[in-house]
Amino acid sequence: MDKIILAIESSCDETSCAIIKNDTLLANIVSTQIEIHKKYGGVMPEIASRLHVENIGVVIKEALEKAQISMEEVTAIGVTRGPGLIGALHVGLQAAKALSLYYNKPLIPVHHLAGHIYASEFVSPLKFPLLAIVVSGGNTELVIMKEHLDFQIIGETKDDAIGEAFDKVARVLGLSYPGGVEIDRLFKKGKANYHLPKPLNDKSYNYSFSGLKTAVINEVHKIQQNGQKVCIEDMAHSFQKTAIDLLLDKALPAIDEFHCQQVLLAGGVSANSYLRSEIIKRTKDKNIEVILPPLWCTTDNAAMIAKVATYLYDKKVFAPLSISADPCWRLEDFLNF
Ligand code: KG4
Repeated sequence: MDKIILAIESSCDETSCAIIKNDTLLANIVSTQIEIHKKYGGVMPEIASRLHVENIGVVIKEALEKAQISMEEVTAIGVTRGPGLIGALHVGLQAAKALSLYYNKPLIPVHHLAGHIYASEFVSPLKFPLLAIVVSGGNTELVIMKEHLDFQIIGETKDDAIGEAFDKVARVLGLSYPGGVEIDRLFKKGKANYHLPKPLNDKSYNYSFSGLKTAVINEVHKIQQNGQKVCIEDMAHSFQKTAIDLLLDKALPAIDEFHCQQVLLAGGVSANSYLRSEIIKRTKDKNIEVILPPLWCTTDNAAMIAKVATYLYDKKVFAPLSISADPCWRLEDFLNF
């Protein structure tokens, strides 16, 4: 029998619905709110929730039409339960619950970061053990997987996520949201002329990106107080190089320690051009497969949620209709809801 999963994602500023039939992605409709949040220099949670309410029905209808699937044919409904913005998560979850109740389909709660990790399966099947470098606007985690749906967090940021640091540094430099994209663009025009520290540069797998962000802010203020002008391109280059070098300096030793066969990037920051080229360069002499998610899959989307839901469906991981969203859901607790 065909396995048809309809999945919904609404954890931040993208409203999305996707449909996977067996292993084939039939539709992935994404409505992004970026242009609206740009005016505020970041995501405004209340506005995000309201826009999800307006868009959720539209993306579900479009996905069904594009896939040429009726709700009756759908096998199960996957939905992002967390982490993310609580109001935003609730919109997708309530829509999924309503469909589950009305059409009598199992409801599958999916962890957002598991989705980002499984986005790599659109490139190549996962091989274990693997190291997932999860780098987004809200999270920075190093995850070891020894088999499907087995997540061990070996390290994480102790303060800001790496994407958050990109966005905050961009704001200080007068760049628009999302800052990571702008910094990456200017990186190509600048040079590493500013010396920045690498906080928490120890042998642990943990990070402090807030320390690096503060170092940039202090440097900018110092230059301005001296009556000089900051070279934005050079500062963007220096920051990006320091942040990504630190990320990889600390992450890549895990490949040997955990005998990994694969290393993959996951989350919004995995679109970063220096990160993508540097990880290939630094692993060239290692016997390891590197998976870079396709660029369309680095931003939030429901296709990656549907991918995880297909595995959870096989394990019969279904939620009752009383389930609630969890904005701080830990990846290691993805079976506790
Ligand atoms: O995964 P995502 O959509 O957010 C969460 O789910 O948390 O990632 C968004 C983050 C933002 O911080 C954005 O600035 C960053 O990803 N980002 C980038 C790039 N493109 C997006 N950071 C660095 N370089 C990029 N090219």
